[in-house]
Amino acid sequence: MFQLIDGKSIAAQIKEEVKEEAERLKQAGIQVCLAVVQVGNDPASSVYVRNKKKACEYVGIRSASFELPEDTAEDELLELVRRLNEDDSVNGILVQLPLPEHISEDKVIQTISPDKDVDGFHPESVGRLCIGEKGFLSCTPAGIIELLRRSGVEIQGKECVVVGRSNIVGKPMALLLLKENGTVTIAHSRTADLKEITQRADILIVAIGRPRFITADYVKEGATVIDVGIHRNEDGHLCGDVDFDNVKEKTAFITPVPGGVGPMTIAMLMKNCIAAAK
Ligand code: GUN
Repeated sequence: MFQLIDGKSIAAQIKEEVKEEAERLKQAGIQVCLAVVQVGNDPASSVYVRNKKKACEYVGIRSASFELPEDTAEDELLELVRRLNEDDSVNGILVQLPLPEHISEDKVIQTISPDKDVDGFHPESVGRLCIGEKGFLSCTPAGIIELLRRSGVEIQGKECVVVGRSNIVGKPMALLLLKENGTVTIAHSRTADLKEITQRADILIVAIGRPRFITADYVKEGATVIDVGIHRNEDGHLCGDVDFDNVKEKTAFITPVPGGVGPMTIAMLMKNCIAAAK
């Protein structure tokens, strides 16, 4: 019998905690504020940005919205970020990715003040995580640690396998599991015998970006499986990187798509905004 990890309800719980914190800060005269910057109107980005602003409103964080046209010059965006860095009424800065081709994402990320880097993407935040210093954590991997913790899944001493090596998910995920005393392997699309590696995992985190790629033969009996992927399949339904129906009976804990990792990303962003204000 497997247990479903209900990301929607855990995220809701975190948002309630954030709401209380935001209220406490308000009583102390601090209105938490997140600047949300979107360049162009990529439909997926617009959905994410809308959901982030909605979450802000719900928890009592002010969101300052900056919607710039697709042809915005890189310098203009950098100037806006610098202005927001200087603005004491702004606690966190989020520039929604991806950016149009003519703008360097690295340059933009590096221009955000590490003190307002609520996405945890700045090299200083990543470096801090790497050497075990306190700093902003990338929201999706931080959310996954929270899912495991609140579901009672122990990480210490466990074989953890992360499939995927992106800067936003795979790499910080591996570092966070390591910080929790897991034994960590990072696998990826070029790993020679992926199945052999994933079959060792007590905790398997999948962020490979391929729909229903992980089937039962990749999974050890009794493993915890966390699915970071999100895709729309042939019949218009959402699915993850894990073939949920094929895998679930083999697991002890598994996240669904939707309603698993997804809602946690925004909840952790809200938490980072509170930390930024403090
Ligand atoms: N694009 C997709 N996910 C994210 C995220 O977590 N933060 C930002 N800024 N852009 C994204």
